[in-house]
Order: sequence, then C-alpha cells, then structure tokens
Amino acid sequence: MPIQRDIIVIPKSVRRNRMEQNLDVFGFTLTDEEMSRIAAMDTGASLFFDHRDPAMVSRLNSRRET
Ligand SMILES: NC(=O)c1ccc[n+]([C@@H]2O[C@H](COP(=O)([O-])OP(=O)(O)OC[C@H]3O[C@@H](n4cnc5c(N)ncnc54)[C@H](OP(=O)(O)O)[C@@H]3O)[C@@H](O)[C@H]2O)c1
Repeated sequence: MPIQRDIIVIPKSVRRNRMEQNLDVFGFTLTDEEMSRIAAMDTGASLFFDHRDPAMVSRLNSRRET
C-alpha cells in the first residue's frame, strides 16, 4: 500500500461509501509478500504516454489551451 511506502495518496471519489473506504486505510498493513506482489504489477510503462519521450515532452510543451 502506498502509505506503507511513505507515498502520499490523493484519492478521488464521488461516492460516500468509497470516500469512507479510502479514508479507512490506517487500521491494517499489508505483508511483505503482498507488497511484493503489488510491486510486481508495475510494468514501468505508462498506460497513456511516456513522460520521458522527448517527442512527447516537446508536444506537451507546445500545446496551447484556447
Ligand atoms: N492523475 C493525475 O495526473 C492528477 C494530477 C493532478 C491532480 N490530480 C487530482 O488527484 C485526484 C485523484 O486523481 P486520479 O486521476 O487518481 O483519480 P480519477 O481517475 O479522477 O478518479 C479515481 C477513480 O477511482 C474510482 N474510485 C475511487 N475510490 C474507489 C474505491 N474505493 N473503489 C473503487 N473505485 C474507486 C473513482 O470512481 P467514483 O468517483 O465513481 O467513486 C474514479 O473513477 C483528483 O482530485 C485529481 O484532480 C490528479
């Protein structure tokens, strides 16, 4: 869980029950094995675009909102 890795979470939900779930994260901890299994899901690739790709960064920087 991010909090166990000292990573701040910014959850967003429009549903009250989910907001309550998202706040109720301090009463348990994941095991090292569970943390490792979650870490293994990270492919290191964005689902949307690569922030390290110079062409993409250039495109984002040249974008103008009207
Ligand atoms: N992602 C970014 O790059 C970025 C950058 C700057 C600021 N922010 C801000 O950070 C906040 C979160 O952004 P985000 O992009 O991570 O969120 P998001 O994609 O806008 O929304 C989170 C999604 O997760 C669902 N969800 C929330 N709690 C859940 C739960 N307990 N179980 C199942 N589904 C759940 C929400 O659905 P429901 O609403 O239907 O519950 C929503 O579809 C927002 O206020 C956003 O403006 C994000």
